[in-house]
Amino acid sequence: MISLSESSEPRLKIRARKDGYVPEPERTDLAVRVRDLHVTYKTTFEKRPTLKQALVRFGRGVRATQTVEALKGVSFDVKNGTTLGVIGSNGAGKSTLLRVLAGIIPPSEGNVETWGRASTMLALGVGFNAALTGRENILLGGLAAGLTKKQVLDRTQQIADWAEEGSDRFIDRPMRTYSSGQNARVGFSVGVHMDPDILMVDEALSTGDAGFRERAAHKLEELRAQARAMLFVSHGLNSVRELCNDCIWLDHGRLVMRGHPDEVTAAYLEFLHVKETGMNAEEY
Ligand SMILES: Nc1ncnc2c1ncn2[C@@H]1O[C@H](COP(=O)(O)OP(=O)(O)OP(=O)(O)O)[C@@H](O)[C@H]1O
Ligand SMILES: [Mg+2]
Repeated sequence: MISLSESSEPRLKIRARKDGYVPEPERTDLAVRVRDLHVTYKTTFEKRPTLKQALVRFGRGVRATQTVEALKGVSFDVKNGTTLGVIGSNGAGKSTLLRVLAGIIPPSEGNVETWGRASTMLALGVGFNAALTGRENILLGGLAAGLTKKQVLDRTQQIADWAEEGSDRFIDRPMRTYSSGQNARVGFSVGVHMDPDILMVDEALSTGDAGFRERAAHKLEELRAQARAMLFVSHGLNSVRELCNDCIWLDHGRLVMRGHPDEVTAAYLEFLHVKETGMNAEEY
């Protein structure tokens, strides 16, 4: 899914806390500021009834509510020019963090500020219409992102060329026929060509081939050199080490470590190893 705010002027977006407190805007070299962020998901589901309950209630299930605390008090800043790797196990809260920063879901507590236009590449292919071709989706994505029709038309060819480079032509085929790597190419190309100040990438590179990854890394480097900020969620620790100059590690909704990507990925690997060997990970 790709989203982009409309104005070309950098602007301050502040989401108020639940208690109504709105922090004062101030000029900084920050791109992102996250303070004591909590996100709690509430879901209702059908409890599976016992045989007796099912008979008595004629098969009607019992509604139950479950809450998941996906983020539990996360705080950090991202300066312009930083490519921040976000690592951690499945369910650690990484995608949730990006969703809040992209404004897709609100914080349950705490606050989040972003300076500039954010472009988000969340889960692969989300936001694309599978029945339409890649080119049509690029057009729609650009319009949804608030670009004018002329801007979109001007950029479409460029985005399509970048997506296809070094591979067979696929851009005019329906996206339901795409391989996951072709999907990733289109998503990534749209995201980076929208001129974002803050680029958020959630596992978009993992299915790309070596050629695509190299060009993607180059593109990210280019954006970083223009003092843009980037958040890069990945399980590919090598990519994180290669692309990022800063890193955070989330575990069960908490930020457990921040530092140089080499150190943080090494600590994370060590932690995984400790878990595997059955030692008490709480000690670390
Ligand atoms: N819409 C939702 N409703 C309820 N719970 C959710 C929802 N989305 C995520 N969760 C839960 O929140 C927690 C964090 O999920 P999240 O997707 O942020 O993890 P992640 O770090 O991105 O994991 P992965 O590496 O598997 O992508 C998980 O326990 C997940 O089950
Ligand atoms: Mg995720």
